[in-house]
Amino acid sequence: MERQGDMTDAMAAIAARAPVIPVLTIDEHETAVPLARALVRGGLPVLEITLRTEAALEAIRAVAAEVPEAVVGAGTVLDPRQFEQVRRAGGRFAVSPGYTDALAGAARSSGMPFLPGVQTVSEAMVLRELGFGILKFFPADAAGGLTWIKAVGAPLAGLRFCPTGGITAETAPAYLALPNVACVGGSWVAPRVAVATGDWQSIERLAAKAAALKRR
Ligand code: 3PG
Repeated sequence: MERQGDMTDAMAAIAARAPVIPVLTIDEHETAVPLARALVRGGLPVLEITLRTEAALEAIRAVAAEVPEAVVGAGTVLDPRQFEQVRRAGGRFAVSPGYTDALAGAARSSGMPFLPGVQTVSEAMVLRELGFGILKFFPADAAGGLTWIKAVGAPLAGLRFCPTGGITAETAPAYLALPNVACVGGSWVAPRVAVATGDWQSIERLAAKAAALKRR
């Protein structure tokens, strides 16, 4: 069993790999490997595959096995049992839109880096007390966006956020300019139409633009 601090350090190290984490919802698992390769070629190695489709775990398995340059993890983790499923599939981190005691317990038991989601100061304080130093802020745009992140910078000094939800190529730079933003998450780098049509060049170009964004 790992200490929470170790998991948080490991999550921070993953978030440090790129300014943007693509949030991927895979309908056909066969698309996962070429999609992952396009994103990695563009400069985004950290990939979150949401557990919202039947294909998700097989997609994680395929990317973990066939795209060694990628750091693939699972998003939309809602059930403690999913940590073990993700670990068996080769996933290296887990992301949740929120947080429960059961999820934190499962993360600790599995030793898997975990990025829990918050929307309020009190939720962030609970997770801070549990030793989490890096949190997903979700749904970022709907929950206060840049204004929220700026406002909590002083009172929640020491916490860093990965805002996700409603972030676009246009709004990402302003988030990344904030000192308490570790990275941002978003689906804009992998539009579903481009995935469905196998337009990997467009996705690589979107990834390259996102990878070039500067962080504070
Ligand atoms: C999601 O809920 O799908 C992720 O947070 C990504 O959100 P987005 O599609 O608004 O980027």
